[in-house]
Amino acid sequence: METLIYDPTATLRAAHGLAAGDVARLAPELEKARAEVLGDLDLLRGDVTIPAAKQPLDAAFLDLPDRLLAEYEANRAESELGKILAAANQLADQVDRVVLLGIGGSYMGARALFDACCHPYHNELSRAERGGRPRLYFDGNNVDNDATSGLRELLSGANFDDLDQRWAIAVISKSGGTLETALSLRTFLTTLRKASGLGEPELGRYVLPVTGASGRLFDLAKALGCADIFRVPDGVGGRFSVLSAVGLLPAAILGLNVVELLRGAAAMNRRFRESAPGDNPVLDYVAICHLMEKQRAASTRVLSVWGSRLEALGLWYDQLLAESLGKEERGALPLTVVNTRDLHSRGQQHQEGPRDKLITNLIVDQVRCDRVTIESSPLDQDQLNALAGKTTPEVMVAAIAGTNQAYAEDGRPTADLHLPKSDEASLGQFFQMMMLATVVEGRLIGINPYGQPGVEAYKRHMGTHLRGGSA
Ligand code: PA5
Repeated sequence: METLIYDPTATLRAAHGLAAGDVARLAPELEKARAEVLGDLDLLRGDVTIPAAKQPLDAAFLDLPDRLLAEYEANRAESELGKILAAANQLADQVDRVVLLGIGGSYMGARALFDACCHPYHNELSRAERGGRPRLYFDGNNVDNDATSGLRELLSGANFDDLDQRWAIAVISKSGGTLETALSLRTFLTTLRKASGLGEPELGRYVLPVTGASGRLFDLAKALGCADIFRVPDGVGGRFSVLSAVGLLPAAILGLNVVELLRGAAAMNRRFRESAPGDNPVLDYVAICHLMEKQRAASTRVLSVWGSRLEALGLWYDQLLAESLGKEERGALPLTVVNTRDLHSRGQQHQEGPRDKLITNLIVDQVRCDRVTIESSPLDQDQLNALAGKTTPEVMVAAIAGTNQAYAEDGRPTADLHLPKSDEASLGQFFQMMMLATVVEGRLIGINPYGQPGVEAYKRHMGTHLRGGSA
């Protein structure tokens, strides 16, 4: 497997960055935080009461990839991963479109995988060009009348005798009670019922739920006659759940290589456990981010993703960092920018605005689609013939180098994070690296990275307003 590389040397060189000694001095604290994070998993698995100060403790994401892979190797058919693959393949044979309902941690990982790993115009391709996999649409991730209504319009006239028109719902909600997802499910179930002419339990063949062991969605799925109800494992929080059925089922429906995704994550787990600070992407990333915030007031963490395919991955990370460490009036502000696009909007501020930012470039080293080459043209009014023969990836390399140079010349610190490809193995490494880094940093600064009490508050008040009461 090609390895993800975190390279913070530019941060260490920049006038407003860090000294190498700063990072080395932090090593004992990083080692302690790593030990606590690993100890949290033992605590969760052990037969002891979890101390109040540690609650909630959603540490089960840590060994989830290793556990799923081991079970799959031991008994493919009976393992959870085997069942996810079987259900996904069956659905792919049955329908041409899937509507994926979910929000927050029950949406963003699947969206990131779809955008990063599928053909950029997946939904526009013929069924054969999609390898026989369904088109994918997202809803339930907002309260947006026109988006929901537009999708319903697209799906309502489907003829279920025709495979090319049949569609299904995948609905994901850990709690099973999130209003946005529930409202959307109600809408699309009604549409599905009408379009298919089916009732329970046959209707259940077209609904794949992922939820907790009980709750409203679980009960509804049973009533619908769903053959499989996939579980969000106990001890795995929403934003830490991308490598459970929450992300694996949508990925498998799309025909992505979920084994490679998990292998990427398991490889990152090994590096996290075994490598010393200085050679450990997780600990090194935490060290740079933490020290830049503490010593240089870099309270905004810009994840500068080079390419549109990675925007959703950046937004997945925005949620992870914001919900995990944005507590007790603390926590750095995550900000995803897509370059070169946003060089033409946010770039000015990053170059000359307040020195409150650490910019981490997320760079994909090898493109997946055919290279676009600048052609020579008899009409050279645009003066591009001088660049004829250069490819889009070469232009991108120049853009990254030029931007880093411009920042460095003004002492603005940057770090580079290289993904070998925009593929499953790279994303597996990235997901696990960032989840581990977030919990390590939480333990380092004394903030419980699990739980999201602030998100719950809005849900409560929204419910009150909706029922006509005052908040
Ligand atoms: O990180 C979290 O737990 C949240 O952002 C949830 O993912 C989000 O609120 C959706 O919740 P649920 O999966 O219960 O519908």
